[in-house]
Amino acid sequence: MSYQFTPNYTNSTILAIESSCDDTSVAIINQGNILANVVASQVVHQQWGGVVPELASREHQKHILPTIHQALSLSKITLPQLDAIAYTQGPGLAGSLLVGANIAKGIAIGINKPLIGVNHLFAHIAALFIDNKEISLPCACLLVSGGHTQIILIQENFKGIVLGSTLDDAAGEAFDKAAKLLNLPYPGGPLVDKLAQQGNPDFVPFPISNLPKYDFSFSGIKTSLLYYLQKNTSSFVQNNLNHICASYQNAIITALINKLQKLINDQTIASIAIAGGVSANTLLRKQILHLAQNNKIAAYIPHFQYCTDNAAMIACAAAMQFQHNQFTPISQPIFTKC
Ligand code: KG4
Ligand code: ZN
Repeated sequence: MSYQFTPNYTNSTILAIESSCDDTSVAIINQGNILANVVASQVVHQQWGGVVPELASREHQKHILPTIHQALSLSKITLPQLDAIAYTQGPGLAGSLLVGANIAKGIAIGINKPLIGVNHLFAHIAALFIDNKEISLPCACLLVSGGHTQIILIQENFKGIVLGSTLDDAAGEAFDKAAKLLNLPYPGGPLVDKLAQQGNPDFVPFPISNLPKYDFSFSGIKTSLLYYLQKNTSSFVQNNLNHICASYQNAIITALINKLQKLINDQTIASIAIAGGVSANTLLRKQILHLAQNNKIAAYIPHFQYCTDNAAMIACAAAMQFQHNQFTPISQPIFTKC
């Protein structure tokens, strides 16, 4: 698997829609600058402890038009000024993707402009280019989200090669599942991160996965937390929640950092980067800076608004595809492998 990035992507004005999971987001990019990035989050899922796909698609239907109007008005761009309409093609929840794809197609037909279907994972990494117009290459990049964990080598020709990925749970999923076991609300990542800041990371020796080569595994640590909770009383767990979160977080982040260090040892690497929802994690952001400093290389960390799902990253990826006339036919079925 590979991704082709394009550093120079400044000749277009694009409206982009992201609706792959539980956030409805619309962004406008103009000459490489993000003019608007509106995100409408869905709170309806919190009571269920996770995203309910049917509720997510219905919420997208409610949010999509107001979000488009808000993005257009914030950016002071009118529909005829757009060069293309972009949308998340996948991976994601079927019903949620359908809402974004169909509205994108409708607008594209209405204004007679091309359509650009974007891969969500490619877009998470492309977001690094929003704030860093120049990236030192080769770059070792971790893509860590709720559904995916990959380590990617972005070569000097801007081609990103996926060297490894998770064999089971994603890093964000491991955070969310831990939160569920600890009776914390969804999404668990931000809360585990917050509690961990007051805790001792050495309190519980959770296993740090270490598969050969560049693959990851995060299902073992979740099981290990389950057994730990079964062995201890709920009052002990409540009294030591900060320490348990700190230890659990530490094991996940150490596994991620170890793989980056292995890649730095194995190949010539000029920089490291992180992307995806888990790149908002405080410890990961800190550790990335340490790793870069220790190895005397550059580090790229996205702004918080470009870590979790957002349409600015779709807009940036679409602007790269626009450079190469990578358009999507209106007749393209919504669910195609991308
Ligand atoms: O990229 P994203 O918004 O959606 C997917 O493409 O999956 O990532 C969402 C994931 C969730 O699992 C969430 O718990 C995690 O990112 N996340 C965090 C933090 N903020 C979000 N994980 C750890 N620490 C955080 N601060
Ligand atoms: Zn995502």
